[in-house]
Amino acid sequence: MKRLIAPSILAADFNHLYDEILMINDSEADFIHFDVMDGVFVPNISFGLPVIEHVNKIARKPLDVHLMIVEPHKYLKDFKEAGAYYLNVHYEACNHLNRTVNEIKELGMKAAVTLNPHTQIELLEDIITDVDMVLIMSVNPGFGGQEFIENSYDRIKRLKELVVRKNSKALIEVDGGVDMDNAGKLYEAGVDVLVAGTTIFDAPDPKQMITDLKNG
Ligand code: DX5
Ligand code: ZN
Repeated sequence: MKRLIAPSILAADFNHLYDEILMINDSEADFIHFDVMDGVFVPNISFGLPVIEHVNKIARKPLDVHLMIVEPHKYLKDFKEAGAYYLNVHYEACNHLNRTVNEIKELGMKAAVTLNPHTQIELLEDIITDVDMVLIMSVNPGFGGQEFIENSYDRIKRLKELVVRKNSKALIEVDGGVDMDNAGKLYEAGVDVLVAGTTIFDAPDPKQMITDLKNG
Protein backbone atom coordinates (compact mmCIF):
# COMPACT_ATOMS: atom_id res chain seq x y z
CA MET A 1 0.00 0.00 0.00
CA LYS A 2 1.32 3.39 -1.02
CA ARG A 3 -0.42 6.63 -0.13
CA LEU A 4 -0.67 8.54 -3.36
CA ILE A 5 -2.99 11.42 -4.28
CA ALA A 6 -4.31 12.41 -7.71
CA PRO A 7 -6.27 15.71 -7.64
CA SER A 8 -9.01 15.67 -10.31
CA ILE A 9 -9.01 18.99 -12.14
CA LEU A 10 -12.66 18.49 -13.11
CA ALA A 11 -13.42 20.38 -9.89
CA ALA A 12 -10.78 23.10 -10.47
CA ASP A 13 -11.56 26.69 -11.39
CA PHE A 14 -11.06 26.64 -15.18
CA ASN A 15 -10.78 30.43 -15.24
CA HIS A 16 -7.65 30.01 -13.16
CA LEU A 17 -6.41 26.66 -14.37
CA TYR A 18 -2.81 27.88 -14.59
CA ASP A 19 -2.78 28.78 -10.88
CA GLU A 20 -4.52 25.51 -9.96
CA ILE A 21 -1.77 23.52 -11.73
CA LEU A 22 0.96 25.56 -10.01
CA MET A 23 -0.73 24.78 -6.67
CA ILE A 24 -0.67 21.04 -7.51
CA ASN A 25 2.98 21.30 -8.62
CA ASP A 26 3.82 22.83 -5.28
CA SER A 27 1.80 20.28 -3.26
CA GLU A 28 2.35 16.70 -2.09
CA ALA A 29 0.14 15.41 -4.94
CA ASP A 30 1.61 12.51 -6.89
CA PHE A 31 -0.36 12.80 -10.14
CA ILE A 32 -2.84 15.12 -11.88
CA HIS A 33 -6.08 13.33 -12.77
CA PHE A 34 -7.96 14.27 -15.98
CA ASP A 35 -11.58 13.23 -16.55
CA VAL A 36 -12.25 13.05 -20.28
CA MET A 37 -16.00 12.61 -21.00
CA ASP A 38 -17.62 12.28 -24.40
CA GLY A 39 -21.34 12.59 -23.65
CA VAL A 40 -21.86 9.02 -24.98
CA PHE A 41 -20.13 6.67 -22.56
CA VAL A 42 -21.22 8.99 -19.75
CA PRO A 43 -24.04 11.57 -19.70
CA ASN A 44 -21.69 14.57 -19.56
CA ILE A 45 -19.05 16.30 -21.67
CA SER A 46 -15.91 17.67 -20.03
CA PHE A 47 -12.69 18.44 -21.91
CA GLY A 48 -10.23 16.64 -24.14
CA LEU A 49 -6.83 16.61 -25.79
CA PRO A 50 -6.03 20.36 -26.10
CA VAL A 51 -6.52 20.95 -22.37
CA ILE A 52 -4.28 18.02 -21.43
CA GLU A 53 -1.65 19.11 -23.94
CA HIS A 54 -1.53 22.64 -22.50
CA VAL A 55 -1.48 21.54 -18.87
CA ASN A 56 1.33 19.12 -19.70
CA LYS A 57 3.55 22.07 -20.61
CA ILE A 58 3.47 23.40 -17.05
CA ALA A 59 2.74 20.27 -14.98
CA ARG A 60 5.49 18.84 -12.81
CA LYS A 61 3.46 15.76 -11.80
CA PRO A 62 2.73 12.81 -14.10
CA LEU A 63 -0.66 12.96 -15.86
CA ASP A 64 -3.25 10.32 -14.97
CA VAL A 65 -5.81 10.38 -17.79
CA HIS A 66 -9.21 8.74 -17.19
CA LEU A 67 -11.04 8.16 -20.48
CA MET A 68 -14.82 8.01 -20.10
CA ILE A 69 -15.30 7.66 -23.85
CA VAL A 70 -16.48 4.99 -26.26
CA GLU A 71 -13.89 3.35 -28.55
CA PRO A 72 -10.88 4.59 -26.56
CA HIS A 73 -8.55 2.45 -28.73
CA LYS A 74 -8.91 5.03 -31.51
CA TYR A 75 -7.18 7.75 -29.51
CA LEU A 76 -4.32 6.06 -27.64
CA LYS A 77 -1.52 7.70 -29.64
CA ASP A 78 -3.22 11.11 -29.36
CA PHE A 79 -3.27 10.89 -25.57
CA LYS A 80 0.35 9.75 -25.51
CA GLU A 81 1.30 12.82 -27.56
CA ALA A 82 -0.76 15.05 -25.27
CA GLY A 83 1.34 13.86 -22.33
CA ALA A 84 -0.52 11.00 -20.60
CA TYR A 85 1.57 8.95 -18.16
CA TYR A 86 -1.21 6.62 -17.01
CA LEU A 87 -3.94 5.97 -19.56
CA ASN A 88 -7.13 4.60 -17.94
CA VAL A 89 -9.62 2.87 -20.23
CA HIS A 90 -12.97 1.57 -19.00
CA TYR A 91 -13.46 -2.21 -19.04
CA GLU A 92 -17.01 -1.54 -20.27
CA ALA A 93 -15.76 0.48 -23.27
CA CYS A 94 -13.25 -2.07 -24.62
CA ASN A 95 -14.18 -5.02 -26.84
CA HIS A 96 -10.54 -6.11 -27.07
CA LEU A 97 -9.09 -5.10 -23.74
CA ASN A 98 -5.95 -7.22 -24.01
CA ARG A 99 -5.05 -5.58 -27.32
CA THR A 100 -5.78 -2.08 -26.02
CA VAL A 101 -3.70 -2.62 -22.87
CA ASN A 102 -0.79 -3.90 -24.95
CA GLU A 103 -1.01 -0.93 -27.31
CA ILE A 104 -1.00 1.54 -24.41
CA LYS A 105 2.19 -0.05 -23.09
CA GLU A 106 3.81 -0.27 -26.53
CA LEU A 107 3.23 3.47 -26.90
CA GLY A 108 5.24 3.97 -23.70
CA MET A 109 2.40 4.74 -21.27
CA LYS A 110 1.31 2.93 -18.12
CA ALA A 111 -1.90 0.97 -18.71
CA ALA A 112 -4.83 1.23 -16.31
CA VAL A 113 -8.25 -0.41 -16.48
CA THR A 114 -11.26 1.23 -14.85
CA LEU A 115 -14.34 -0.58 -13.53
CA ASN A 116 -17.80 0.92 -13.13
CA PRO A 117 -19.49 0.24 -9.77
CA HIS A 118 -21.55 -2.66 -11.21
CA THR A 119 -18.70 -4.46 -12.99
CA GLN A 120 -17.43 -7.60 -11.26
CA ILE A 121 -13.88 -7.49 -9.92
CA GLU A 122 -13.38 -11.12 -10.93
CA LEU A 123 -13.54 -10.14 -14.63
CA LEU A 124 -9.98 -8.86 -14.22
CA GLU A 125 -8.63 -12.33 -13.35
CA ASP A 126 -6.97 -12.83 -16.76
CA ILE A 127 -5.62 -9.31 -17.25
CA ILE A 128 -4.49 -8.31 -13.77
CA THR A 129 -0.82 -9.22 -14.38
CA ASP A 130 -0.75 -7.13 -17.58
CA VAL A 131 -1.94 -3.82 -16.15
CA ASP A 132 -0.09 -1.18 -14.16
CA MET A 133 -3.15 0.07 -12.29
CA VAL A 134 -6.84 -0.68 -11.72
CA LEU A 135 -9.20 2.22 -11.10
CA ILE A 136 -12.29 1.39 -9.07
CA MET A 137 -15.14 3.85 -9.58
CA SER A 138 -16.78 4.59 -6.25
CA VAL A 139 -19.51 6.64 -7.98
CA ASN A 140 -21.19 6.18 -11.33
CA PRO A 141 -18.88 8.07 -13.70
CA GLY A 142 -19.93 11.33 -15.30
CA PHE A 143 -20.00 13.97 -12.58
CA GLY A 144 -17.92 15.27 -9.72
CA GLY A 145 -19.34 15.83 -6.26
CA GLN A 146 -21.37 12.61 -5.97
CA GLU A 147 -21.85 10.46 -2.90
CA PHE A 148 -19.38 7.62 -2.26
CA ILE A 149 -20.87 4.14 -2.83
CA GLU A 150 -20.30 2.14 0.35
CA ASN A 151 -19.80 -1.32 -1.20
CA SER A 152 -16.62 0.04 -2.82
CA TYR A 153 -14.66 -1.07 0.31
CA ASP A 154 -15.65 -4.67 -0.30
CA ARG A 155 -14.75 -4.37 -3.99
CA ILE A 156 -11.34 -2.92 -3.14
CA LYS A 157 -10.64 -5.74 -0.69
CA ARG A 158 -11.55 -8.33 -3.34
CA LEU A 159 -9.34 -6.57 -5.87
CA LYS A 160 -6.46 -6.47 -3.39
CA GLU A 161 -6.84 -10.22 -2.85
CA LEU A 162 -6.73 -10.78 -6.61
CA VAL A 163 -3.62 -8.59 -6.99
CA VAL A 164 -1.83 -10.48 -4.20
CA ARG A 165 -2.95 -13.95 -5.35
CA LYS A 166 -1.79 -13.31 -8.92
CA ASN A 167 1.40 -11.57 -7.78
CA SER A 168 0.43 -8.53 -9.89
CA LYS A 169 2.25 -5.21 -9.58
CA ALA A 170 -0.95 -3.26 -10.34
CA LEU A 171 -1.69 -0.27 -8.15
CA ILE A 172 -5.25 0.19 -6.88
CA GLU A 173 -6.84 3.59 -7.46
CA VAL A 174 -10.27 4.77 -6.32
CA ASP A 175 -12.28 7.63 -7.81
CA GLY A 176 -15.45 9.38 -6.68
CA GLY A 177 -16.72 10.85 -3.42
CA VAL A 178 -13.33 10.61 -1.69
CA ASP A 179 -13.11 12.81 1.41
CA MET A 180 -11.54 12.97 4.87
CA ASP A 181 -14.19 10.57 6.23
CA ASN A 182 -13.21 7.70 3.93
CA ALA A 183 -9.57 8.38 2.93
CA GLY A 184 -8.03 6.45 5.84
CA LYS A 185 -10.45 3.53 5.46
CA LEU A 186 -9.72 3.35 1.74
CA TYR A 187 -5.98 3.12 2.30
CA GLU A 188 -6.61 0.42 4.91
CA ALA A 189 -8.78 -1.52 2.45
CA GLY A 190 -5.84 -1.64 0.02
CA VAL A 191 -6.00 1.54 -2.07
CA ASP A 192 -2.71 3.00 -3.32
CA VAL A 193 -4.01 6.09 -5.15
CA LEU A 194 -6.90 8.33 -4.09
CA VAL A 195 -8.49 10.56 -6.74
CA ALA A 196 -10.25 13.60 -5.27
CA GLY A 197 -11.87 16.57 -6.97
CA THR A 198 -14.47 18.44 -4.93
CA THR A 199 -12.83 17.67 -1.59
CA ILE A 200 -9.57 19.29 -2.72
CA PHE A 201 -10.73 22.22 -4.85
CA ASP A 202 -13.63 23.28 -2.59
CA ALA A 203 -11.39 23.25 0.48
CA PRO A 204 -10.29 26.60 1.95
CA ASP A 205 -6.68 25.43 1.55
CA PRO A 206 -6.49 22.88 -1.31
CA LYS A 207 -2.76 22.29 -0.89
CA GLN A 208 -3.22 21.44 2.79
CA MET A 209 -6.17 19.18 1.90
CA ILE A 210 -3.88 17.18 -0.40
CA THR A 211 -1.53 16.64 2.54
CA ASP A 212 -4.43 15.80 4.87
CA LEU A 213 -5.88 13.21 2.46
CA LYS A 214 -2.45 11.66 2.07
CA ASN A 215 -2.17 11.26 5.82
CA GLY A 216 -5.66 9.75 5.82
C1 DX5 B 1 -16.26 11.08 -12.07
C2 DX5 B 1 -14.79 11.36 -12.26
C3 DX5 B 1 -14.08 11.73 -11.02
C4 DX5 B 1 -14.54 13.00 -10.38
C5 DX5 B 1 -14.32 12.87 -8.91
O1 DX5 B 1 -16.81 10.66 -13.28
O2 DX5 B 1 -14.14 10.23 -12.79
O3 DX5 B 1 -12.67 11.78 -11.20
O4 DX5 B 1 -13.87 14.13 -10.87
O5 DX5 B 1 -14.93 13.92 -8.33
P1 DX5 B 1 -15.22 14.01 -6.78
O6 DX5 B 1 -13.92 13.81 -6.07
O7 DX5 B 1 -15.75 15.39 -6.67
O8 DX5 B 1 -16.22 12.94 -6.45
ZN1 ZN C 1 -11.81 10.18 -12.84
